[in-house]
Amino acid sequence: MEKVFGLLGHPVGHSMSPLIHNDAFQVLNIEARYHAFDVQPNHVKEAIDGIRALNLSGCNVTVPHKIAVMEFLDEIDDEATQIGAVNTIVNKEGKLIGYNTDGRGYVKSLLEETGEEIGSKKFLIIGAGGAARGIVTALLRQGIGQLTITNRTLEKAQPLLKLAQVYETDACAIEKHKAELTLNEFDVIINTTSIGMSPNIEESPISLKNMKRGTIVSDLIYNPIETKLLKDAKQQGAKTVNGIGMFVNQAVLAFEHWTGENPDPLRMEKIVLQQLG
Ligand code: ATR
Repeated sequence: MEKVFGLLGHPVGHSMSPLIHNDAFQVLNIEARYHAFDVQPNHVKEAIDGIRALNLSGCNVTVPHKIAVMEFLDEIDDEATQIGAVNTIVNKEGKLIGYNTDGRGYVKSLLEETGEEIGSKKFLIIGAGGAARGIVTALLRQGIGQLTITNRTLEKAQPLLKLAQVYETDACAIEKHKAELTLNEFDVIINTTSIGMSPNIEESPISLKNMKRGTIVSDLIYNPIETKLLKDAKQQGAKTVNGIGMFVNQAVLAFEHWTGENPDPLRMEKIVLQQLG
């Protein structure tokens, strides 16, 4: 019987997930369909009950439900627990298990696209919200040299600093102006905020004036494909990594959880690039 997978989010109209997953099902000859479900915030419990009642095989979860779904699942894996958010649900013989593939998806793209080791690198993370938490958790689990967080609301970095202690990683939180002054100390700079996202494409979360050459600058944003931050970075001799790899790799990892098969990331990326025009 055809398996059904879904996306739970609000809104979901512009999501590219149905396109890439349905294409992968077809290419791999898997009898399955993926559908985006627009779930209102007050209907999260019913949506999870719906997965059980309709026996959906699995789901992705996106904004704004990644935290809200957690209390209704049967089991949550270690990494998703640490992140405090779930983006992938697997229905394992009636038992709903939550995972988070965002952070690992991102780290995979960072390693692949730069071809560099990160074990001794100094990271500056801009932002301390949900996206930052996913990425910082995955980076700490992978192992990095040092972690610095800068955020408009500095106290929000505290839980991330606590997490760094668990992994015995040197970490601190600093104001943006201090980060800008000492920017040449960082090997990797990652924007996890929405600053620079379409339509505000002239905005940048940080001045790169003091950045050293060869720094890796990355933005989780993929619309536009190249943010002002990445354009500025390139001009100053940085290697850049945009958010497309993260989107593709989180999907690849979710697909693997659901089916045990490996979809083609390059094919997925091509579809995404076509959609973004
Ligand atoms: P997400 O899940 O996308 O990370 P979030 O949890 O709401 O969303 O976090 C958004 C992050 O972007 C936060 O770090 C936020 O800063 P605050 O913690 O001070 O709110 C940051 N952010 C968003 N818009 C911003 C802006 N205009 N200026 C500075 N920081 C901004």
